[in-house]
Amino acid sequence: MSNALKVVPTGAALGADIEGVDLREIDDAAFKVIEDAWHDNLVLRFRGQKLDDDSLADFSARFGDLDMAPTGRGGTPYDPSRPEITVLSNIVEDGKELGALGNSELVWHQDMTYNDVPPKASLLHAREVPETGGDTSFYNMYRAYETLPVDLRQRIQGLACKHDATRTSSGDLRHGYEESYSHEERPGAVHPFVIRHPATGKPALFLGRRPNAYVPGLSVEEGDALLDALWDHINNGPHHWTQNWRVGDLVIWDNRCALHRRNALDPTTRRHMHRTQVRDDARPVAAWAS
Ligand code: SIN
Repeated sequence: MSNALKVVPTGAALGADIEGVDLREIDDAAFKVIEDAWHDNLVLRFRGQKLDDDSLADFSARFGDLDMAPTGRGGTPYDPSRPEITVLSNIVEDGKELGALGNSELVWHQDMTYNDVPPKASLLHAREVPETGGDTSFYNMYRAYETLPVDLRQRIQGLACKHDATRTSSGDLRHGYEESYSHEERPGAVHPFVIRHPATGKPALFLGRRPNAYVPGLSVEEGDALLDALWDHINNGPHHWTQNWRVGDLVIWDNRCALHRRNALDPTTRRHMHRTQVRDDARPVAAWAS
C-alpha cells in the first residue's frame, strides 16, 4: 500500500477526500483503508482519476457485484455493450442524447429504492463538467435520524414507506409506466422508515424521495402530513455537503445512509459523467427488527 494514501474529511456532516491514490492500481490493503473511510464518512472523493469504463467497473466491483444501469428513455441501455454503466449527460449530438437526466435539477433521493434490494453504493466519475452548475449535494441520514424530534421518531416507529418506481429523480416518467396511478397500484417497493446499516450497525432514516411516496396503513392525508414533516426536517437541516465537480473526480456514496441531489445545469454548458452501482446483499432491514 502506498504511504501517500491519506483520508481527509471535509469537515462537514459527511464526505472525505482520499488523496495519494490511483484507483487503477490499488491493492487489498489500500482498499481496506478506503472501505473503512467510506463507512466512516459516507461519501468519498478521489480527485484526478483517469478511469475508462473498464477501470471504473473494476474499482466499483471491489465493493460487490454491479447492478445493471437503469435503462434510458427508450427502455434500452445507453451503451448495450456496457449495461452496468449509466451515462448521465446533458449533451445532445446529432439529435441524440448522450446520456440520461439532461439539464434537470434533481430532488433529494436515494438511488433505485423503488427496488426491493436497492444498490448499496453509487460511483460517479466526471468526464466533462461545467465551471459552474451541476454540483451534487449529499445528506447524512444517520444524523437526520439522530436529530429527529422525539415525537416524529415515535410516529415512524414500526412504519414503512412505499417508494415510487415510475418517475426519475428529475420527475420524468420511466419507460413502460402509466402517467397516473393510485397510491396502492403504483409500482415500487416498501421499506422501513428507519433501517439498520448492515456494516456499521447504525440506524439511518431511509426516505428514498418525496414525490409519490406513500405510507401504507395510513390515510393519504395522515401519510402526506408525516412525509412532509420528515422532509421538512431534511430540508431545514444542516447535515449536508456539496461536491463541486472537477474533471477526473470519482465520488462514491453509500446509498443506504446518504441522500443526494443535483443542482440545475446551464443548457449551454457540457456535463458528461459515467456511473456504476453496486448491488446490496439483502433488502434493507428495519432498525427495530430483532
Ligand atoms: C444521480 O442522481 O445519480 C446523479 C447525480 C449527478 O448527476 O450529479
